[in-house]
Amino acid sequence: MARIIAGIGSSHVPAIGAAIDNGKTEEPYWKRVFSGFEKSQAWMRETKPDVAIIVYNDHASAFSVDMIPTFALGCAAEFPPADEGWGPRPVPVVQGYPALASHIAQSVILDEFDLTICNKMEVDHGMTVPMNLLFGNVDKNSHWPCPVIPLAVNVVMYPPPTGHRCFMLGRAIRKAVASYPEDIKVVIFGTGGLSHQISGPRAGLINSKWDKAFLDNLSKDPQKLVKIPHVDYMREAGAEGIEMVMWLIMRGALDEKVDEVYRFYTVPASNTAVGHIILANRARGAKAPPRKHKPAAAKHKRAAARAKTDRIRS
Ligand SMILES: [Fe+2]
Repeated sequence: MARIIAGIGSSHVPAIGAAIDNGKTEEPYWKRVFSGFEKSQAWMRETKPDVAIIVYNDHASAFSVDMIPTFALGCAAEFPPADEGWGPRPVPVVQGYPALASHIAQSVILDEFDLTICNKMEVDHGMTVPMNLLFGNVDKNSHWPCPVIPLAVNVVMYPPPTGHRCFMLGRAIRKAVASYPEDIKVVIFGTGGLSHQISGPRAGLINSKWDKAFLDNLSKDPQKLVKIPHVDYMREAGAEGIEMVMWLIMRGALDEKVDEVYRFYTVPASNTAVGHIILANRARGAKAPPRKHKPAAAKHKRAAARAKTDRIRS
């Protein structure tokens, strides 16, 4: 059976992609950001997922403002990088996983989540920047280390989905993956954020206290995050901080209790707080060790004592 083994949260700041593409990763400003992902890349090389589900948002690249799906699942065999105004990023074409993607589409739609199915879609920095951060700088003529199922979420035009809806979609994805017969390891990314606002009087807003509390709760008490209304994200984390609801899809797809493998936080990158976390499911498909059955032993002792009493009476 397929199983989700871990969730990864990562910001997707476009300037990070530009730093990679223009060879600036060793400059002190950017090295501070990229060095925070070195351990994560080693973890990813060791973990070797068979497929990654990447929850991200499109920035009017694949979908214009003429047509905005709330949730759009990529079921194609490949996803070329989009031209975001400076030509497509020099990264490999993303290979899809149509069989599992179609299975997820069927499962979650029958579970009453009305996804848009995309059989042709380009992907922008919202997806390829987190891929670079976790998989490293991959030559454009080479291949990403595993196929990817993109899940685009509308967080660019009101109304985005609620945090609760995102979390419940994660739960439905988890159920879908668990019912897929192939024995494969799946990781799921939640991307975007953390706090930032790119325009208006509050441009440049960063709220580290909010971000750190979000990461703490994501790890230990996600139900607290599920209740947060949009207006709180907007007020506390900035207009673009609403991207953080996408992390709740990732968290909903994991077990209730997870192990926090790694966390990294730095400000700023461009005008955005960069957050990153890796959360691993504890079971990983293995059976839990047998428990000592103290109550059963006591029950057995009581039954033996009763039998002895009966023998004395008879
Ligand atoms: Fe964004």
